Amino acid sequence: MNNFIFQNPTKLVFGKGEIAQLATLIPTDKKIMMTYGGGSIRKNGVYNQVKEALKNHSVSEFGGIEPNPEYETLMRCVSECRENGIDYLLAVGGGSVIDGTKFIASALKWEGEPWDFLVRPLKVTEAVPLAAVLTIAATGSEMNNGSVISRREFKEKRFFFNDACFPQFSILDPTVLYSLPKHQLANGIIDSFVHVVEQYITFDNKAYIQDYWAEGILKTLIEVAPKLMDNQEDYDSCSNFMYAATMALNGFITMGVAEDWATHMIGQELTALHGLDHGVTLAIVYPGVIKVMKADKREKLLQYGERVFGITTGTEDERIDKTISATEEFFKSLGVKIKLSDYNIGNETIEEVAHRFGERGYNLGERGKITPEVIKQILNEVR
Ligand code: NZQ
Ligand code: ZN
Repeated sequence: MNNFIFQNPTKLVFGKGEIAQLATLIPTDKKIMMTYGGGSIRKNGVYNQVKEALKNHSVSEFGGIEPNPEYETLMRCVSECRENGIDYLLAVGGGSVIDGTKFIASALKWEGEPWDFLVRPLKVTEAVPLAAVLTIAATGSEMNNGSVISRREFKEKRFFFNDACFPQFSILDPTVLYSLPKHQLANGIIDSFVHVVEQYITFDNKAYIQDYWAEGILKTLIEVAPKLMDNQEDYDSCSNFMYAATMALNGFITMGVAEDWATHMIGQELTALHGLDHGVTLAIVYPGVIKVMKADKREKLLQYGERVFGITTGTEDERIDKTISATEEFFKSLGVKIKLSDYNIGNETIEEVAHRFGERGYNLGERGKITPEVIKQILNEVR
C-alpha cells in the first residue's frame, strides 16, 4: 500500500425525506444562490421541497445549467452572484449542476479569466461555500473536490480540483431517483462502475481493504442494476445504488493505490467532440482499455473476474477474456450501445483524440504507458 493522507469534509445527509434538513443546515444569515438544471426538479417535486425547507432563508435562483455544464452559462451565474452579494451556493441537481456550482464558487474567488484554472497550470484554491441536494446517482461530485466543465465554443471539456469545493454537506434522498429517465439511470450505473475500476483494475497494490471495498461496490451495482431497470421505485435498490455511487468517487477506495483514469480522459474528448453522455463514453472506451492493456492489468483482471463475476474456470487467458466479455455484457444489459460506429464516430475522431493528447504532452494510465499511439489502438478496438 502506498503512503496517503485522507480527508473528506463533506457531511452526508442520507435518506427519504431528508431534504427538509436544509432548514437548519444553512445559517439563515447567508445569501444563497440555488442553482439547478433544465427543470426536472420542478416536475418531480424536489424544487418545492427545497423552497419549503428554505422559506426562512434569503434565496436567489439560477436555472438552466445544462448536462456537461457550459462555461458561458456558468459565467452568467457568476455575474448574477456578484450583483446579488451571494455568499453561499446550493446546487440542486446531478453532477453537471454540482460541478457547475463548484466552478461558480471558485470563479467568484478568482481574479482574471477562470478558464485559466481549467487549462492550467494555474490552480484555484479558494471558493465560496457550497452544498448540494443530489438528484442523480452517478458522478460522486456530491462528496469530492472535482469538477468538469465544457466550453462548446472551443470543443473542449476540462476538469479542475479545488479542496475548497468539497460540498459542506450533501443531501441524498434515494426517492429522487424515481423520476430519472431510464437512460440516465444506465449512465449513472456505468459511471459509478467505471469510477471503481479506474481505481481498482491497475496492478496489485497490496491494499486488501481498498480491493474488498471496490469489489463490494461493483457487486452492489451488478446486483441492483437489473432490479432498478425493472422497477425504478424500489427503495432498497435506489438507496444502495445512490450510496454506491457516492462511495465510488469520494476518496475511500483510492487511498494508497495506483489509479488509471485513461477511460475518463479519452471519454471526455468524445463528449467534447460529439456531445455524447459521459456514461456512454465510458461504456464504449473501457472495454477497449482492458483489451489493449490486459497484459499490464493481468493480476487485477483475474482477481476482478473471480471475485466480482465468479469466473474461476479455464486458463488464465480464457478467464481474462471471459471477464472482459462479462463487463461488456453488463454495460449492454443496461441498454447502452458500446461501439463507436453505433454513434457514427470513425477515424477522424480517433486521430483527433490521439492528436490532442500528443499536444498536451502526457501519457495516460496507471503506468503512464498509454501514449497517443496506444489511444488509437484502444479506440480502434471499439470501432
Ligand atoms: O437538467 P435537468 O432538467 O435537471 O435534467 C437532468 C439532465 O438532463 C436529468 N436529471 C437529473 N436528475 C433527475 C433528472 N431527471 C429526472 N429526475 C431526476 N431526479 O439528468 C440529466 C443528466 O444530468 P447530469 O447532471 O448531467 O448527469 P450526471 O450526474 O451524470 O453528471 C454528468 C457530468 O458530471 C461530470 C461529467 O463529465 C458530466 O459533465 N463528472 C463529474 C465528476 C466529478 N465531479 O467528480 C466525475 C465524473 O467522472 C464525471 O466526469
Ligand atoms: Zn465518471
